[in-house]
Amino acid sequence: MTPRRVRAESDAVGRQDRPLRITVDGECVDGIEGQTLAGVLLAAGRLSWRQARSGAPRGVFCGIGVCFDCLVTVGGERDVRACRRRARPGDVVTTQSRTPASEPASEPPIDPHKPNSPGRES
Ligand code: FES
Repeated sequence: MTPRRVRAESDAVGRQDRPLRITVDGECVDGIEGQTLAGVLLAAGRLSWRQARSGAPRGVFCGIGVCFDCLVTVGGERDVRACRRRARPGDVVTTQSRTPASEPASEPPIDPHKPNSPGRES
């Protein structure tokens, strides 16, 4: 299956499209009112927008909100399922990854012999 949009003029239903524009990592992406964020991304030719911990590309897998493969950040809200959120004009979408390099730095290990080590019992 290839991601593409049926043009309104050739759609047998006779729908009236209302365009919208979102930004994805600072790049403008055009869509149609009623599309999910994943729909906008797929119609724009983006098949993946995230990386799993292994570095494997992720995008839409289930398309119904079950697998969490399509996570994005929308207006600062992390872990939004792109397949479940309708795009709104002006949405600011940023991609996110779970690769070890993108994970926040973890706490330093506890050194039981160091007097001020975090977590050390006194
Ligand atoms: S594609 Fe599975 S939750 Fe969005």
